[in-house]
Amino acid sequence: MKNNKKINWFKEARFGMFVHWGLYSIPARGEWVMHIEQIPKEEYAQLAKQFNPKRFNADKWVRLAISAGMKYIVLTTRHHDGFCLFDSKVSNFTSVKTAAKKDFVAEYVAACRKYKIKIGFYYSLMDWSHPEYQNSMEKNSPVSPQFIAYFQTQVKELCTNYGKIDVLWFDGEWDHSVKQWQSEKLVKMIHKLQPTALINDRLGTESRGTLGDFGTPEQYIPTAFPESSAPSRSWESCMTMNDNWGYSAGDKNWKSTRQLIMNLVRCVSGDGNFLLNVGPKPDGTIPPPSVSRLKEIGAWMKINKESIYGCGKTSFGGGMVGLTTAKNNKAYLHIFRWSGKEICLAWVKNKIKSAYLLANNKKISVSQKNDRLFIKGLPPKAPNDIDTVLVLKLDRRKNG
Ligand code: GLC
Repeated sequence: MKNNKKINWFKEARFGMFVHWGLYSIPARGEWVMHIEQIPKEEYAQLAKQFNPKRFNADKWVRLAISAGMKYIVLTTRHHDGFCLFDSKVSNFTSVKTAAKKDFVAEYVAACRKYKIKIGFYYSLMDWSHPEYQNSMEKNSPVSPQFIAYFQTQVKELCTNYGKIDVLWFDGEWDHSVKQWQSEKLVKMIHKLQPTALINDRLGTESRGTLGDFGTPEQYIPTAFPESSAPSRSWESCMTMNDNWGYSAGDKNWKSTRQLIMNLVRCVSGDGNFLLNVGPKPDGTIPPPSVSRLKEIGAWMKINKESIYGCGKTSFGGGMVGLTTAKNNKAYLHIFRWSGKEICLAWVKNKIKSAYLLANNKKISVSQKNDRLFIKGLPPKAPNDIDTVLVLKLDRRKNG
């Protein structure tokens, strides 16, 4: 399928959930613990004997994502530590062959299908537990053909054993070039097995921002309007809610719900997606601070989703009060800084036919002088303290 067609759902979706879950949730110091603390692979492998999540409930994860307004999920089927949450013929280091005796990927996929949310698989190319990969790290040499065959077999398993997959999200590519990873072969195989699946851009040293179906800025949002340095290709910012992807018991540096909603809007205002992460605990539950934030985002989305799904850039920005998104003949002014009564936006080339608040349909009067737009008679108190959305009906499509 042509890329511009197959990516349509992704651009419509705008908001997804990233899930980082694996053995590293047990030491609870983030997903890099094995490498950062230089834990030998034999010692790290012992964690698999303890990894037996009693409260894992894929339905609950999916329902939480849906309640937040998310339209797709990307789960770490295997992170850099090499431990697989799926059944693999070429590895014993999997949740199926150790204590849990479960194919978590299968359960996750089943829940996503049940609730009709799009399915993404994260898969790390690097594998700290594989002797061949370790070898290449120690000698600073290219990965061996055996290792390539190994991971390509696993990707093939992921592409054949779970039905239709919507996103393949690679990572851990940065030590080798596209050629060394033989990523072109990998992509060909995916196109054959999963013709509609989207593939991200982490396929080799030089691939970020160029290869794949979409770019993956990590922990930042490319600047949107008016500087407009946002990439012209499709992109998705992935971001943690605190400072870690994997569960980190001591990390209390949570972003506020306000910050997260602003980030979502900022992505959409620059034509991008927002992939917001959760790091479930070893028992399979999502940490309460993440749950409460997702519920609060969901409450905002319930009222304001129209200003997010399928929306993108406008030809004018949100001035001093916030940001703008748009779809067809409507622009949405996201007012983060409510100053009451009156607002002015400049550089508005469109004729604004009418305006109303998304929260309560209250009509708001607008007038224009040259390309300045005056919005008057706003209530003194913001209907939504985080982001009140004002709908501006345009005379023609957004980029006029
Ligand atoms: C990084 C990290 C990783 C995380 C990922 C998410 O490359 O190595 O731990 O999974 O980015 O984007």
